[in-house]
Amino acid sequence: MLRQGPAGALGIVVLGATGSIGASTLDVLARHPQRYRVEALTAHDSAESLLALCRRHGARRAVLSGMAEEATLRARFAEAGCELLFGSEALAQVAAAAEADAVMAAIVGAAGLQATLAAARAGKRVLLANKEALVMAGPLFMRAVREARAELLPIDSEHNAVFQCLPRGGTGVTLEGVRRIQLTASGGPFRQTPVERLAHVTPDEACAHPNWVMGRKISVDSATMMNKGLEVIEAHWLFGVPAERIGVVIHPQSVVHSLVEYADGSVIAQLSHPDMRIPIAHALGFPQRIESGARPLDLCALGLLSFEQPDGARFPCLALAYAAQRAGGTAPAVLNAANEVAVAAFLAGRLRFTAIAPVIEESLARVAARAARSLEDVLEADLQARRVAGALVAQRSEQAA
Ligand SMILES: NC(=O)c1ccc[n+]([C@@H]2O[C@H](COP(=O)([O-])OP(=O)(O)OC[C@H]3O[C@@H](n4cnc5c(N)ncnc54)[C@H](OP(=O)(O)O)[C@@H]3O)[C@@H](O)[C@H]2O)c1
Repeated sequence: MLRQGPAGALGIVVLGATGSIGASTLDVLARHPQRYRVEALTAHDSAESLLALCRRHGARRAVLSGMAEEATLRARFAEAGCELLFGSEALAQVAAAAEADAVMAAIVGAAGLQATLAAARAGKRVLLANKEALVMAGPLFMRAVREARAELLPIDSEHNAVFQCLPRGGTGVTLEGVRRIQLTASGGPFRQTPVERLAHVTPDEACAHPNWVMGRKISVDSATMMNKGLEVIEAHWLFGVPAERIGVVIHPQSVVHSLVEYADGSVIAQLSHPDMRIPIAHALGFPQRIESGARPLDLCALGLLSFEQPDGARFPCLALAYAAQRAGGTAPAVLNAANEVAVAAFLAGRLRFTAIAPVIEESLARVAARAARSLEDVLEADLQARRVAGALVAQRSEQAA
């Protein structure tokens, strides 16, 4: 359990501070200045946004992971009382620093893996938004958490909900009496779009999520439901539940964030407005409850909550994720890398929305799954899948030209 030391506030590092989760995290932190201080903030190359955040939140250190050393920029951050570091290696450095009590892992995609792993290896409280890290390297990551006695708290609203609904035992949650877990999914912006129109949807349409405001990559993942597939794998590693006992149900209102079903037929769910500040405040304050800034839930105003089965033909990515999880080893890393390549191509206008799943499926078929014994095995599979998926995207763009 994180306890506030006599010297004062807890030091928080926010990896991916300029993103959507970063903004929600800083909003919650700013509500509790006595309890938390911002130790370090990171961005890839959004230098001006990062500088503004460092000024506003009084960060002691900052990292621009995608930029080379630049003296003028360093001087401007120094004027704001902030030490600026450059390059991707600095991410792991601030995540593992002695001054960091908790690390919000909110970099998007595989790029977040090494810094998140560094935080776990340094025994930090890791607030995990970067699900891709766990999808790619589940066994290695969970071993690092155990060995360093790090504390892993889920930020994804579904996993945070499951965490809140599972029974407690020993130092964490247990699966005693648990029959299965149900992850809810909104169904995204194309839940009711005629299937024949999906080949022509634009990146902006895919990113117009009905309930959540998120970064563009996860928004597309929500539209394909790959996000839910990644979350099934994430839930497997976080809670030790076999994927066959993790179900997915569409719940368009995004109020029930997930459910745990027990042996006696009881089902426990967690409900709230779709506002990421709620799971963030839960994980920051755990086991205490702290103010998040979210408005209270008015059930009567909500009226109807509905649920339906996901349509496998509309959302083929979901089955691909289950298949990768069953294949094991490096297959989830291949799935994740191929998805990142396909989504980036779709966002850049180089791939149709409906070609995302075939690119991933073909990549999984071409890159054989191997045992994932080390970080190097995982990174090698990631690289190979990126090459294969990149070539498949190029082929499809040529055919379309
Ligand atoms: N948004 C949500 O509501 C939500 C909910 C649940 C889980 N998540 C998960 O949280 C993570 C972040 O999502 P998001 O929506 O907040 O993403 P986002 O808005 O796109 O923000 C991404 C952040 O990561 C940084 N970044 C991008 N590429 C990087 C790289 N190669 N190396 C280092 N940093 C990099 C960005 O910096 P720049 O600004 O410089 O590019 C930015 O700070 C994802 O794993 C997502 O699945 C998000």
